[in-house]
Amino acid sequence: MSGRDLQPQDLRASAAVRRAARTLETAGLERARAEAELLVCGAAGRPLEWLLVHPEDMLSPEQAARLEDMVGRRARREPLPYVLGHAEFYSLDLFVGPAAIVPRPETEVLAEAALARAPEARFAVDVGVGCGALAVVLARERPEMMVLGIDVSREALRLARRNIARYGLGRRVALAAGDLLDPVGRRADLVVANLPYIRTGDFPDLAPEVSRWEPRIALDGGEDGLALIRRLAGQLERHLSAGGIAALEVGAGQAEEVANLLRRAGLTEVEVVPDYAKIDRVVIGRKRG
Ligand SMILES: C[S@@+](CC[C@H](N)C(=O)[O-])C[C@H]1O[C@@H](n2cnc3c(N)ncnc32)[C@H](O)[C@@H]1O
Repeated sequence: MSGRDLQPQDLRASAAVRRAARTLETAGLERARAEAELLVCGAAGRPLEWLLVHPEDMLSPEQAARLEDMVGRRARREPLPYVLGHAEFYSLDLFVGPAAIVPRPETEVLAEAALARAPEARFAVDVGVGCGALAVVLARERPEMMVLGIDVSREALRLARRNIARYGLGRRVALAAGDLLDPVGRRADLVVANLPYIRTGDFPDLAPEVSRWEPRIALDGGEDGLALIRRLAGQLERHLSAGGIAALEVGAGQAEEVANLLRRAGLTEVEVVPDYAKIDRVVIGRKRG
């Protein structure tokens, strides 16, 4: 049914949810009903509670048209956070969009582990800053910390800038375009990196939300997935301060090899931290003091 054919009763929020859920179900989405509720609230510019309390409220024709567009995008498997324009990360609400990947819950493990291992860090670098998720969390959790976020993608940096401004962190979080740690002018006490680590050969197996919509440059880690992480490990000796910490997110099955890369780069106290699904997800090392 197109927006033009809608009857007044179809504009009730509850009816809009049912209609959206049917479309999403037909598109093969498992959480069709829950996603439909989020999309109706997104189109109406209301929080989820509104739907629970006022399911009989009417959408305006503009809101109904917006919803139709959003449901169509989601049915084509565009990631839900891209369609909604925002995502939750570490209890923050961040702008997201096709310039950068949607921040994942496992990256919260990286943020937590880095903050716990580097309580005294004053200058941190987030390599591959994307939408700014890690940089914003570090700066918010440590009011005394300066953070530099680096990315090769200028579109990603534009998105990160919006998130930094949203949380009023412009004075403590700077951004630079460039390759890995090249733009860094002084030694860092903490380097965090969620760099691309998916093996090129694994792309055909990825969910369409990932392979069709998220930027390839944010995901593709080359033949064994470690091309960028290997290059970054080679730069740590020069760019980390004495006693400084490097914390890297890795893919399933990569932790041991990355731990060895860090040891070969001269780091000590190398340890591996599992994520919520018990997959070894973060590798951390310290430069000798
Ligand atoms: C997996 S995403 C991580 C984004 C964000 N840090 C997060 O955790 O949600 C990797 C990011 O690294 C960036 N990137 C890829 N190659 C890079 C390079 N050589 N130097 C700097 N950044 C790079 C991509 O543009 C992308 O934004």
